Amino acid sequence: MRGKRGRLDRLLAVHLQIPRKSVRALLAEGRISLNGDTVSAPDLQLDEFCKLALDGELLLGWDPVYLMLHKPAGIISATSDAEQATLMQLLPDALHPGLHIVGRLDKHSSGLVLLTNDSRWSESLMQPDAHVPKLYRVTLANPIAPEAVQAFAEGMYFDFEDIITRPARLVIEAPRVALVELTEGRYHQIKRMFGRFRNPVVALHRLKVGNISLDASLAPGQWRHLSAEEVADARKIVE
Ligand code: URA
Repeated sequence: MRGKRGRLDRLLAVHLQIPRKSVRALLAEGRISLNGDTVSAPDLQLDEFCKLALDGELLLGWDPVYLMLHKPAGIISATSDAEQATLMQLLPDALHPGLHIVGRLDKHSSGLVLLTNDSRWSESLMQPDAHVPKLYRVTLANPIAPEAVQAFAEGMYFDFEDIITRPARLVIEAPRVALVELTEGRYHQIKRMFGRFRNPVVALHRLKVGNISLDASLAPGQWRHLSAEEVADARKIVE
């Protein structure tokens, strides 16, 4: 499902800066087309990717874009920043309009970041009730305490938010390396959870969001479009 843009006559009036009466005249004269077809109903509801044209000239409209990016550590997950390098600078300008980040990663984290201009898609993935799983590989300063597995699974009380974290899966891969799967995204969540064991996170790398895995052929800083299957798979998770 896509985000709504509202009524046709309202959108045209705002976009062309003319009264709705003049919009109705354009519609009656058959001069407006929507996605290539002439339209006349002023109350038509438009979605965010509709293509509107006047006398065949495109007035507005763009295609939905879905991307994955391999975020390098040290870059902030923001669309713009006055001082620091942002993810957006790794993408061509032509892709920027309407593009936003679907679930941030901390500055010093690396790995999979999804971006889109489809707000309905991003909202469905990020809404707290969707509990979309996110998988991370975490490297720690000290050997991981075996009790951490149970503590992650049981949830931890976070004073600041006054919540108990949702059950998280912790798999110890090596003395200082673990996989962690979260189904929520609290501020600095993994760092805070290992903080309970006085074990600082040295590196944090996101491998997967929902069914979408970071493409191993993408070097840090590289990106690619998602396939139609990946876009659809991500939707399935929240349906
Ligand atoms: N948890 C963190 O502490 N940092 C991240 O970037 C993601 C999860």
